[in-house]
Amino acid sequence: MSASSIDSHLLENRVFPVPAEFAAQANIDEARFNALKAEAEQDREGFWKRLAREHLHWITPFQQGLDASAAPFYRWFADGRLNVSANCLDVHLHGAQRHKAALIFEGEKGEVRTLTYAQLHREVCIFANALKRQGIGPGDRVAIYMPMVPEAVIAMLACARIGAIHSVVFGGFSAEALKDRLEDTGATLLITADGAWRGGKLVPLKRHVDQALLREHEHKVRHVVVLTRTGQDVDIVEGRDIRWEDAVAGQPADCPAEGFEAEQPLFILYTSGSTGKPKGIVHSSAGYLLWAKLTSLWSFDLKAEDVYWCTADVGWITGHSYVVYGPLACGATVFLYEGAPMYPRPDRFWEMIARHGVTVLYTAPTAIRAFMKAGDEWPARHDLSSLRLLGSVGEPLNPEAWVWYREKIGAGRCPIVDTWWQTETGGHMIAPLPGVTANKPGSCALPLPGISAHIVDEQGVEIHSPDQGGYLVIQEPWPGMLRGVWGNPERYRSAYWQKFDDRYYIAGDSARRDADGYFWVMGRIDDVLNVSGHRLGTAEIESALVAHPAVAEAAVVGIPHEIKGEAICAFVILKHEHVGDDRDELGAALRAQVTELIGPIARPDDIHFVDTLPKTRSGKIMRRILRAIARGEEITQDISTLEDESGIDQLRPGK
Ligand code: PRX
Repeated sequence: MSASSIDSHLLENRVFPVPAEFAAQANIDEARFNALKAEAEQDREGFWKRLAREHLHWITPFQQGLDASAAPFYRWFADGRLNVSANCLDVHLHGAQRHKAALIFEGEKGEVRTLTYAQLHREVCIFANALKRQGIGPGDRVAIYMPMVPEAVIAMLACARIGAIHSVVFGGFSAEALKDRLEDTGATLLITADGAWRGGKLVPLKRHVDQALLREHEHKVRHVVVLTRTGQDVDIVEGRDIRWEDAVAGQPADCPAEGFEAEQPLFILYTSGSTGKPKGIVHSSAGYLLWAKLTSLWSFDLKAEDVYWCTADVGWITGHSYVVYGPLACGATVFLYEGAPMYPRPDRFWEMIARHGVTVLYTAPTAIRAFMKAGDEWPARHDLSSLRLLGSVGEPLNPEAWVWYREKIGAGRCPIVDTWWQTETGGHMIAPLPGVTANKPGSCALPLPGISAHIVDEQGVEIHSPDQGGYLVIQEPWPGMLRGVWGNPERYRSAYWQKFDDRYYIAGDSARRDADGYFWVMGRIDDVLNVSGHRLGTAEIESALVAHPAVAEAAVVGIPHEIKGEAICAFVILKHEHVGDDRDELGAALRAQVTELIGPIARPDDIHFVDTLPKTRSGKIMRRILRAIARGEEITQDISTLEDESGIDQLRPGK
């Protein structure tokens, strides 16, 4: 064994105990953790009912807990009514808390805007009234395609206030991706901005909207509200588009919080699967909010004094649960940053943390690795002593980056909370509790109280022996779980339940558990890629490539990437008449095509032009072979099911 492999072996076995000072002040200490776990084991439904009563404000209290009569379509607290926006705003309007900062926003150019709870409440009420004025009511879908500005949060909460279902589309997605989502949700109103600032450049959001709405029969959007952010020129379509400032003009600052059913969908958010189009994941009102709030309190130890910063965009689930709903339900102060992480210099994050006194930071491994690469001198220039807890999400945080995060950002003092969860789970599922659980770099540690995570084999039998990999599954329903796939109940069943006959929620990840019960996530079981912490379906990227007139067939696989986690490698078969075309030009055209149809995050890093793809006799592409080829590895797998073994050699890059 070489010295370096011994090193990494040792690193992965390191255990960092909970700092005693942290444990002494934590929301959840060891006794509380054990009590919560015991309570959940004894009476799981009673456990969730108690927490829902204590942590949410109900307009009509619920009697029912779990309704499993139509399993795996579970319902929680279904006879209760509440208003999600009131739980994030109105409950904090008493006494001095109303003047506490709810949002501190910093624009990419450096301007700072603070909204107190009272001010945010006012803005949300005004905008909720503006939405009503545009004809929006309970159950209507409203799409949000915005930059990371306070108005994005205001728009989400305003929808929640009037029972409309929001569907936020990440501002980095293309017009085509936006169009698909508008079509699928049947949104009748779209909220956007003229543009967004990103890395000093203008992103033309409104232009993308205009393209997405071109073919009227493909969507139901009747109104577009346009926020002025960058001041760039935009076309305003008479009768369809209205400026934000005109929409809110004259609207009253009072919008009573009506109670909606606990199971009323709060939002739809799209995520990639291994096949077909992205799935519209549906989340409920009460169960989702409860889990977003509890996990904020438990995993992040959120307190009233915290200045909390989750760096995710509101276009992802992390932004929903941990920029908006969780921390605001806790009454925390949320810091919001508009722009690119390294703009104008690699110390932008550290400078803002020092300036705003951020205490809790939640970011992604891809960002941590990029900062690590930029050099230790950047964080070293700033006083980061306000930080008390560091979180991570999106993919496994490799031990090297983990240790860097702990030492260079957390000064060896802050617990690291590596949270495993998904768009579908609503909130954290497996994470170390910062005042209780010792850290092991690279492991997301233990299931949270109430969460029954297991590892099972191909037959669905639980694996008990340590370090043996298998399917990561959740046995018991929990309030924050997805309620379905929008408009496609069959897909919900087949994607998450069918394989093990509805016995478990199947996360689609593989994992192992060590002798201490710590979970180590190994990656996706399906062909879904994880690029910079974002799930991308191979099918989507392949169909974007095949949409190019020169392409006959395409297959994409992930290859390890130092910063992004995975990079995209595409194998492309050209149509006969294009075989002689210039490959550099074609490569550029294909990258542009994927950017246009999905967005820059899906752009392939490598493109190999090949004559054949390895397929089974039943015609399925054998991705494991492509993965080995893309990684330059020997093909050790069984290729006996391959239709044509002789084609493999020709696939190797450079041939
Ligand atoms: O593969 C797991 C990985 O990200 C997937 C969920 O992606 P998405 O729904 O886009 O949500 C990302 C933010 C919650 C999971 O199936 N993943 C997420 N967090 C971790 C992780 N893998 C390992 N460790 C994590 N902490």
